[in-house]
Amino acid sequence: MKNPNLWLVVPAAGIGQRMKAECPKQYLKISDRFILDITLSRLLDSGPFEGCMVPLHPQDQWWSDSESSSDGRIQTCTGGKERADSVLSALHALDEQADENDWVLVHDAARPCLHPHDLSNLIDVLFEHPVGGLLAAPVADTLKSASKGRQPAVEQTVDRRYLWRALTPQMFRFGALRQALESCLENGHTVTDESSAMEFSGNMPLLVEGRADNLKITVPSDLGLAEFILSQQ
Ligand code: C5P
Repeated sequence: MKNPNLWLVVPAAGIGQRMKAECPKQYLKISDRFILDITLSRLLDSGPFEGCMVPLHPQDQWWSDSESSSDGRIQTCTGGKERADSVLSALHALDEQADENDWVLVHDAARPCLHPHDLSNLIDVLFEHPVGGLLAAPVADTLKSASKGRQPAVEQTVDRRYLWRALTPQMFRFGALRQALESCLENGHTVTDESSAMEFSGNMPLLVEGRADNLKITVPSDLGLAEFILSQQ
């Protein structure tokens, strides 16, 4: 049987409400480049991808101004209401090109600091695995569960030894991920990452330890931090 191909999906159809900016966060700039352009060029220049699909918001006004729009390696499609809808729409758009057993790596457009070593390590660790997995970082802080209400109080300290922060890329078999996402969306399960969809289908994705500085730009102060991390890499 031939070696599976690797496909890349970078959902970029979000509006980035928490950023309170004039444009979606993937179109904010670091060193005069769109975050989305930094993310895509770093991935495509370091990973052995067969192709790349980027779901965009139906009213996107910025893509045509991006460097990526003239990159022949990248295709686009229309994203959906939630992140999972956007990822599923990208998988459907790749349906004709990808085999069921191929790998698909899904990476947030808003994570420009992914280190190339983490990407290659994820691919190396998972390539022979039947299910796949994700980059993740062990939790460093002491964690508290809180009471409900306007001024929460500590209910208890949670054992952090078995807790990890889910990062991206997340890497799964193309057919299994498409099926898992379809089933979650049909059954109304909330999925905020690909791994949760695979978990709902009864799989146990592997956790591959990645760098804690693979930051998702979410609030305005993350922008300066991402710029600093990129300058140090
Ligand atoms: O909003 P959040 O930080 O969870 O978004 C993570 C990624 O998912 C971002 O790259 C965002 O553009 C993308 N997204 C999407 N379609 C949506 C919502 C988010 O492609 N409907």
